[in-house]
Amino acid sequence: MGGTYTVAVVGATGAVGQQMVACLEERRFPVHRLVPLASERSMGKKVTFMGKEIPVEVLTKDSFDGVEIALFSAGGSISKEYGPIAAAAGAVVVDNSSAWRMDPEIPLVVPEVNPKDIGLYTNRGIIANPNCSTIQMVVVLKPLHDAARLRRVVVSTYQAVSGTGQKAVDELANQVRALLACQEPEKKVYPHRIAFNCLPHIDVFLENGYTKEEMKMVNETQKIIGDDTIRVTATTVRVPVFYGHSEALNIETERKLTPYEARQILATAPGVKVVDDPLKNQYPMPLDAAGQDLTLVGRIREDFSIENGLNLWVVADNLRKGAATNAVQIAEILIRDYLRK
Ligand code: A2P
Repeated sequence: MGGTYTVAVVGATGAVGQQMVACLEERRFPVHRLVPLASERSMGKKVTFMGKEIPVEVLTKDSFDGVEIALFSAGGSISKEYGPIAAAAGAVVVDNSSAWRMDPEIPLVVPEVNPKDIGLYTNRGIIANPNCSTIQMVVVLKPLHDAARLRRVVVSTYQAVSGTGQKAVDELANQVRALLACQEPEKKVYPHRIAFNCLPHIDVFLENGYTKEEMKMVNETQKIIGDDTIRVTATTVRVPVFYGHSEALNIETERKLTPYEARQILATAPGVKVVDDPLKNQYPMPLDAAGQDLTLVGRIREDFSIENGLNLWVVADNLRKGAATNAVQIAEILIRDYLRK
């Protein structure tokens, strides 16, 4: 039996933070003491962990005394301010925000793809958890890249509202209820109604005409796979789905891969499940991906418009593999290989 650890979850009352607590419990992470942290708004709230109710504490500079691992999911500005404070207090931070992802000194990790980069946590005491859409994409791309070298990836996403946080889940539910009752729906989170609509707008627009979310998919993919010659272009779209991001991928490889070969490769790839039997109406869907940890891939078919092209459809639970599960998997490797007691 190994030792146990003091683990803080920053943003424990949020959509991802709640999943982090659930993942720690489900995966039997050896937690000695759980420290759930949030804002003053959550004073008096409790989180349930291993059958016990634990009071949520207000995040302060002193919150990290004795904390060995700190999982952050309370937004970029909190990570920027408190990540280094937690690291200076001796914790290893696994940060789900975009604050540190492209910092060259900070590892950006998907355990199925680049687990060795976790060792670079010693640089700054921080490991970055990638963007949800990037995680599920690279889990599928890496084994195909190893087999046939990726030249170019064109991705279009269909992203669930839970990626924006609990307030967006509530907004979609409230808008649907209002519309079905013939009332005017309220909009606070998105600039347009999300119920029965699609918004080609995730995160802020940049000067180059792309959104920040789209550029995250480009830059993070190259960093995680460790190859900046892979060309990536993305269109990211918010759709009225609660949980589970979907992605249409078009890839071009150096060596030709048949759909059969791609299916064989993906069938044994870690963290991936092939769901690809169109004649039986079997293909990945958010409804099936939600609540579990695998990345589902299907609709694997040749792109006849180019020489070495494939089309694929990839779906995963954005709060789990896209965020909480990936962070807890990183923490598992951290304690197994680097912080062993
Ligand atoms: P709180 O519930 O107290 O506002 P989501 O992504 O679902 O919107 O959740 C964001 C998480 O980040 C919540 O747990 C939220 O806590 C937390 N959070 C937001 N701002 C702060 C802050 N200033 N200090 C600590 N936690 C914060």
